[in-house]
Amino acid sequence: MSNLPYIVGNWKMNGSRAMLAEARAIDRAAARFPKVQVALAPPATLIIAMREAVQEIGVGGQDCHIEASGAFTGDVSAVMLRDAGADFTIVGHSERRALHGESDALVRAKAEAAQAAGLSVILCVGETEAQRDSGKAEDVVAGQLDGSLPRGDEVAAGLAVAYEPVWAIGTGRVPSVKDVRAMHKAIRTQLITIYGEAGSEVRILYGGSVNAKNAAKLLAIDEVGGALVGGASLVAEGFTAIIGAAGQSEEA
Ligand code: PGA
Repeated sequence: MSNLPYIVGNWKMNGSRAMLAEARAIDRAAARFPKVQVALAPPATLIIAMREAVQEIGVGGQDCHIEASGAFTGDVSAVMLRDAGADFTIVGHSERRALHGESDALVRAKAEAAQAAGLSVILCVGETEAQRDSGKAEDVVAGQLDGSLPRGDEVAAGLAVAYEPVWAIGTGRVPSVKDVRAMHKAIRTQLITIYGEAGSEVRILYGGSVNAKNAAKLLAIDEVGGALVGGASLVAEGFTAIIGAAGQSEEA
């Protein structure tokens, strides 16, 4: 996998066809920063149209079902995402884990199904505020990684991990530089334990209230290989500033 900084916008359940104008503007901005890998994960309804509207950026899903097809009303499979033109999918986002009761084992099965369908995977992990306050953040994340990372030959090549503290998502709060550095280092160590040398190539993104103001500081931290951005990815201007910050951290 590329070692360029990876800036991914997660639109969550936001976006209509009118918002493809933002995607086009983000795509034009991304063309100005060839040393940054940029992608958007719109709602599934927009994947086909977005894939046709953009040239430079990756387009992906926010979740997938483990089966390729079948009687699973309302679900979308990894095979279908690929068929719609997706390059990757997010799995294990804390909103899926909390609101849809997704276990580590299910997240792992989704990651493996996505890779089998030819998609890259962004696998999310992160502790709650209570877990951080009780000193268990690193143990919780280690447990999530152990249970949800895909296993098998060469799976590390199509994988990124996103560390997203649940209490930082959509709140405007971010962890200290020291805490981000410690967590990303711990994740790196675990990736190498699980995947061997290939684990050193997996990009570890930070997510949770990343915006145009704090991006440069967060992206400069050791082992932060990019950002998973929610709210600030919905408007091209703000997201472009984050891409620009990643472009500068690359030049530094
Ligand atoms: P946020 O969301 O940037 O709005 O905090 C990040 C995410 O949930 O991926």
